[in-house]
Amino acid sequence: MALLSVANVTQRFGGIVALDRVSFDAEQGEIVGLIGPNGAGKTTAFNVITRLYTPDQGEVTFDGESLLRSPPHRVIQRGIARTFQNVELFRSLSVLDNVRVGAHARRGDRDPGDIVDYVGLGDVAGRPAHGLPFGTLKRVELARALASGPRLLLLDEPAGGLNHEEVDVLAGLIGRMRKDFELTVLLVEHHMAFVMGIADRVHVLDFGRMIASGAPGEVQRDPAVIEAYLGADHVPEEPLA
Ligand SMILES: Nc1ncnc2c1ncn2[C@@H]1O[C@H](COP(=O)(O)OP(=O)(O)OP(=O)(O)O)[C@@H](O)[C@H]1O
Ligand SMILES: [Mg+2]
Repeated sequence: MALLSVANVTQRFGGIVALDRVSFDAEQGEIVGLIGPNGAGKTTAFNVITRLYTPDQGEVTFDGESLLRSPPHRVIQRGIARTFQNVELFRSLSVLDNVRVGAHARRGDRDPGDIVDYVGLGDVAGRPAHGLPFGTLKRVELARALASGPRLLLLDEPAGGLNHEEVDVLAGLIGRMRKDFELTVLLVEHHMAFVMGIADRVHVLDFGRMIASGAPGEVQRDPAVIEAYLGADHVPEEPLA
């Protein structure tokens, strides 16, 4: 049984159908990519899974139990953590205190200081978040998410705004995290080389519909996927094929 299962989910905003009968899943231990052009519904899918929205239709189950019947604050307690497309941190708090917030959200046995060291932020642990480079802030968010002891980690464009070297380091880090913390990772990303390099499976959304699912190599060659990217006013950062 999949750890996370999204089944037939529809999410409307007025006349916009942000998700149109979308289904996908993630098995325990997998890194699953969720890609698609701007406005495809990727962040909306994360917002449904984390209970910011209650979908018009469909079901979301985590570890065999419905998520839609629990309130939003229960999501993190059940072992789901996320990072945001636009980094969301307490800017005046130190790096370590931001990570402590994550640990506090769910009583776990993880020491926030150890997590800060693990993601390579030991040198800036005492510095306030504001003023730190964007790549560092993204890593603080990752540490905060890890500190809550998740089983499922949702990452919304973790490579966005990072330079090539930082993207390579991040890919290595996510791979290590999966092993060291027995994580399942759902990864929304526009950086094609990055997502295709680390995902076991990739799902592709376009205008709220799931247009392809499969191994990275298959999805990259799928004509519907190529058409979705070329047809939209969106050029992936890396060529698709
Ligand atoms: N709270 C909201 N109210 C109204 N419309 C929304 C809301 N959230 C998302 N949308 C719309 O739903 C669609 C999907 O948006 P979403 O943010 O999920 O796309 P995305 O795939 O994450 O795009 P991007 O790659 O640009 O981040 C868009 O048309 C967006 O304008
Ligand atoms: Mg988004």
